[in-house]
Amino acid sequence: MSTMPSDRSPDSTLAFLREGYRFVGTRCDRLGTDIFQTRLLLEPTICLRGREAAELFYDEERFVRRGAMPTRGQRTLTGVGGVQGLDGADHHDRKAMLMSVMTPDAVRRLGQIFDDRWRARLPDWAGSGPVVLYDEVGKLLTEAVWAWAGVPLADADVPARTAEMHAMIEAPAALGPRHWRGRLARRRAERWAGALVDRVRAGAAPSPESSVLRVVAGHRDGTGQLLPRRIAAVELLNGLRPTVAVDRYVVFAALALHDHPQWRDRVRGDDAATEQFVQEVRRHYPFFPVAAARVRRSFQWQGHTFPQGRRVLLDLYGTNHHPGLWPEPEQFRPERFAGWRDDPYGLVPQGGGDHLTGHRCAGEWITIELMKRAVANLTGAMSYRVPPQDLALDLGTMPALPAGGLVVDGVRPLP
Ligand code: HEM
Repeated sequence: MSTMPSDRSPDSTLAFLREGYRFVGTRCDRLGTDIFQTRLLLEPTICLRGREAAELFYDEERFVRRGAMPTRGQRTLTGVGGVQGLDGADHHDRKAMLMSVMTPDAVRRLGQIFDDRWRARLPDWAGSGPVVLYDEVGKLLTEAVWAWAGVPLADADVPARTAEMHAMIEAPAALGPRHWRGRLARRRAERWAGALVDRVRAGAAPSPESSVLRVVAGHRDGTGQLLPRRIAAVELLNGLRPTVAVDRYVVFAALALHDHPQWRDRVRGDDAATEQFVQEVRRHYPFFPVAAARVRRSFQWQGHTFPQGRRVLLDLYGTNHHPGLWPEPEQFRPERFAGWRDDPYGLVPQGGGDHLTGHRCAGEWITIELMKRAVANLTGAMSYRVPPQDLALDLGTMPALPAGGLVVDGVRPLP
């Protein structure tokens, strides 16, 4: 039996919050390992990175999700009682409900709505001065996903709903007001989402068949019961909130086009090149740092003991930047995805494994579709300038974004 390497700190929570995306990777590099133990939030925790680690982490026989996500994450980002914290048959049932709305047709439809709204907004952007891409794309995504999901939305409410989604996404690793804004936003959002579910169930709000709203409101679990109203609200928000979060990836795509302008011509009108570009954006830029689970029953792996109940973190960012998996991982090189064979454990910005049976992100196809539409619009539907600004990404801030949200100006629609 080998002793698991340890970072030897009495508690590393503050270091994790300070170092952010690099916390696990820095220690792995220093200890010459892809596995070590530490203490986080006063609890012993095993940290892992790499392909083999991802394959282990997504083995449902070995890990459960119940009780893995810290309360601060549940009360802001995911909600309490949602699919993220379920295991076994309960998880499969809830996940199947969400995945039933992710058909190729439905994904395309959302992409088309987003596209139409982006093009319709171009004259406004052209007529205004500088445009903050993060804010504007966030609002477009809110409009698009609300329409797609069958959730009514007045034009006047778009900024407030977008801000609510942003607040939830920004809160889990934040301290102070940014965290509390996220809690408040979640309480508010669950209130209106729950009221809407009630109205749909009472037949008082029309909702298109097979829309997210209709599916969630009408879903019955294995015992034939409708989901409790609060849980239905959490799951409805699971379809909405992360779609708005794609605005971060759109900002990263714009950043990549700015830093690697040769890709503007390469992606224009070329679906294969656009796909490579989008995959590299997802691999390269920081979004979710880690995923968390707990050991179901004690087991041994590579000579190390994983005790029952132990919290385990998989370093998503570190796996996407693992030098053993990705040559020159810090370089932005979309061509690495030419001829790439999909590897469910190698590229894990949205988790790994299987979408239907495991905890891999339910919205991965949506994300890729929306990013491709955004890249097509940024390169083919408009011209713009990126004025001088601070575009640095602070890897110690989770989630990361350029401070000003990426400002563009001189927007002109292209014929
Ligand atoms: C913005 C880009 C996105 C990123 C970076 C992202 C990332 C992730 C990650 C890391 C997980 C956790 C995987 C795990 O626990 O092992 C996850 C789960 C999930 N995501 Fe996403 N996601 C994104 C977009 C979306 C979209 C667009 C949707 C829905 C429309 C969505 C819905 C979900 C759901 C429901 C889960 C929970 C799945 C489960 O526990 O079975 N996500 N996502």
